[in-house]
Amino acid sequence: MSKPKHVTLNGQEVPFEEGETILTLAKRHGEEIPTLCYEPRLSVVGSCRTCLVEVKGRGRMMPSCSTLLEEGMDITTTNPRIERHQKALLALYMTDHPQEHESCETGAPCELHQMAADVNAPRDWPHMEPIRQSRPDDRNRFVEFIAEKCILCSRCTRYCDEVEAVNAITLTGRGAKTTISTTDQISLLDSSCELCGGCIDVCPTGAMTEKKPHVQQAPPERELEKVRTTCNYCGVGCQMDLNVSNGTQPRHVAKITSPPPGTTTNDGNLCVKGRFAYDFISHPDRLKVPLVRGEDGQLHEATWEEALQKAADGLMKVKAEHGADALGFISSSRCTGEENYLVQKLSRAVFTTNNVHQCAAT
Ligand code: SF4
Ligand code: SF4
Ligand code: FES
Repeated sequence: MSKPKHVTLNGQEVPFEEGETILTLAKRHGEEIPTLCYEPRLSVVGSCRTCLVEVKGRGRMMPSCSTLLEEGMDITTTNPRIERHQKALLALYMTDHPQEHESCETGAPCELHQMAADVNAPRDWPHMEPIRQSRPDDRNRFVEFIAEKCILCSRCTRYCDEVEAVNAITLTGRGAKTTISTTDQISLLDSSCELCGGCIDVCPTGAMTEKKPHVQQAPPERELEKVRTTCNYCGVGCQMDLNVSNGTQPRHVAKITSPPPGTTTNDGNLCVKGRFAYDFISHPDRLKVPLVRGEDGQLHEATWEEALQKAADGLMKVKAEHGADALGFISSSRCTGEENYLVQKLSRAVFTTNNVHQCAAT
């Protein structure tokens, strides 16, 4: 067996695994290193330079996200030089980014604002008008790109390519005019985009954001409480966070986000239905009480006991008159596995028929 290799991390000798980067080792040891372009599911580009650290014997600081560990490295992740670099870099990023935190809080929380505050980056540097101008409105209903908030970290384009595997968006243009776009600036609806909204989740600056009217209704992040639940659109069972307003606005689901990557089986991903199709929750036409058809042929509100009794009577009557196999039970993919199990139990054990199916057949 080969001997474990070691590096020195902030004065302590620690073992590392072959192929590991400075960043992953530092995180494993509880060290905080700011990152913007790094995302654990995506290929490493090392472009934002927020994660620079010192390696003894190397003149310039090294990007911790893309520097592989080598035997004997002596690494420092925090000292006055590194802090000075972080402050200056984040102050520079902020010079052409919207200054008010509130303006970035409509989509995902703005990591850039938070990071600049964490390192106490100077806020009095002259503000520049952003060169990247927002694109004309895209007629898709869900995803919006606000160019002046973008820092070109390419998390969205790498996600679209490497996780969603559709390559609908890309970095385009040259120099200071580089921006994020579809081919020939076509609408996402005419591109290969699947409207998964993953680009919104990975964007650290709120440049990719959820479109109105959802966003207009969304209170600031600090007024949202995340409630973990299971998506009920299909049998996969993705975990999702309902972002419920708990502030000044009436309590409602303001948006749906994915739990962080690596924490649930869907690994930070959702599909278009799971992420965006939640209007039904507070839709005025939503059924909230059972309806039973009366003698007059009209539907009337009823209690659950009345409605269940009516259904049971009807099923028993069909069975008595035509036999158990005249009955059939169809369950929904929007039910949980446990609920579908109960439906087949009801069908087989109570009404003694095997005529039972579930629409997703999962
Ligand atoms: S919504 Fe999904 S598929 Fe469309 S551009 Fe964003 S990441 Fe790509
Ligand atoms: S839109 Fe967001 S994720 Fe995409 S490059 Fe710009 S800042 Fe990064
Ligand atoms: S996180 Fe390392 S360079 Fe961006």
